[in-house]
Amino acid sequence: MFDVFGSCFANSDRIHKEIGIIRQIAVKIRQNSRFITLVLCPTSAIFASTLFQKHFMSKVQTLGQFIIEKQTDFPYAKGELSRLLRDIGIAAKIVNREVNKAGLADILGEAGETNVQGEAVKKLDVFANEQFIAALSVGGECCGIASEENEEIIPIDTPQSRNAKYVVAIDPLDGSSNIDVNVSVGTIFSIYRRVSLSGPATEEDFMQRGTEQVAAGYVIYGSSTMMVYTTGKGVNGFTLDPSIGEFCLSHPLMSTPSSGKTYSINEGNYVHFPDGVKKYIKYCQEEDKSTKRPYSSRYIGSAVADIHRNLITGGIYIYPTTASSPNGKLRLIYECNPMAFLIEQAGGKATDGFRRIMEIEPKKLHQRTPFYAGSADMVETACEFMTRFSTAHR
Ligand code: AHG
Ligand code: MN
Ligand code: MN
Repeated sequence: MFDVFGSCFANSDRIHKEIGIIRQIAVKIRQNSRFITLVLCPTSAIFASTLFQKHFMSKVQTLGQFIIEKQTDFPYAKGELSRLLRDIGIAAKIVNREVNKAGLADILGEAGETNVQGEAVKKLDVFANEQFIAALSVGGECCGIASEENEEIIPIDTPQSRNAKYVVAIDPLDGSSNIDVNVSVGTIFSIYRRVSLSGPATEEDFMQRGTEQVAAGYVIYGSSTMMVYTTGKGVNGFTLDPSIGEFCLSHPLMSTPSSGKTYSINEGNYVHFPDGVKKYIKYCQEEDKSTKRPYSSRYIGSAVADIHRNLITGGIYIYPTTASSPNGKLRLIYECNPMAFLIEQAGGKATDGFRRIMEIEPKKLHQRTPFYAGSADMVETACEFMTRFSTAHR
């Protein structure tokens, strides 16, 4: 910073004095970032402020800065939710590091074996689970976790956490079957205010409708790594800049088109789909200029990646009932509800074919549900097909 100012104010004594003042101010800025101002004489004040903005506050806003700035959206907030989101961001960076090394498993040792250092190599979904549990347990803002990887909830019973306000439901690694073939995977999380009064969380804290979510998001470990989240005031996306190790705001206020050109469904299960879905797929494939059909079929097999793409470009994601998954495959609490919250916040819709996902009352921790989500017009049309051609989910 001094060099920047120094090279700009060449030679004059007066200017040297001003550089001295700016140096003192720079020290103050470090101590208190609000103290930037008013002591400077007008010329150098403008100069300093312009340079400061250009070099230090330019276009980059980190996740941490954004979270703190947005805390003012919640006048009575004491920063707990902000810290919780920060903890999730930290765990995501650690998981990202390991996901990026996944292809080296052959060299470093297969999951379940020992690596060249003689350490046990963990499967990445187990590793991701441990990282998120560790980050949330030491962070002090979460009193319990429900994870796809754990049959029961994980109550957190540390002096800092036991009376924390929030619980977190998480799919630590979504699309994990894609890891071995270098295809995008993700993490999905959902945050609720606890309903129990104090102590470690109970299962009841997780049995809340999606409409009660305080925040939700996902991390996509893709061609670049992104964290996308909502606290109910729009959806914002942050891309990890590996050179500085920070998530930076790259997709402010994301909104999904009301219609798109993509349908995403595992068509291999076609013969077992409900009639409404079969008919809807045929509709997607028909020619019609006014609705830009036929649509393209795109299916990665990582819900995070499929939904992320559709959120940006417009489209519909469907995981209906099938013979092997008579209640659908995806889990209500840590896959569908958080995705539904994000999609709705971006202007889309999420249903089980008939009902709004976020209004479903959970009965079991690992409950499954059919999932129809994405661009509002497309989801509405798919649901109309269900109502016309299917009874319940069959
Ligand atoms: P997970 O890896 O957490 O078990 O989730 C996988 C889910 C979801 O991400 C994906 O869309 C779907 O399963 C793929 O299922 P199919 O292989 O049956 O299409
Ligand atoms: Mn999953
Ligand atoms: Mn998973």
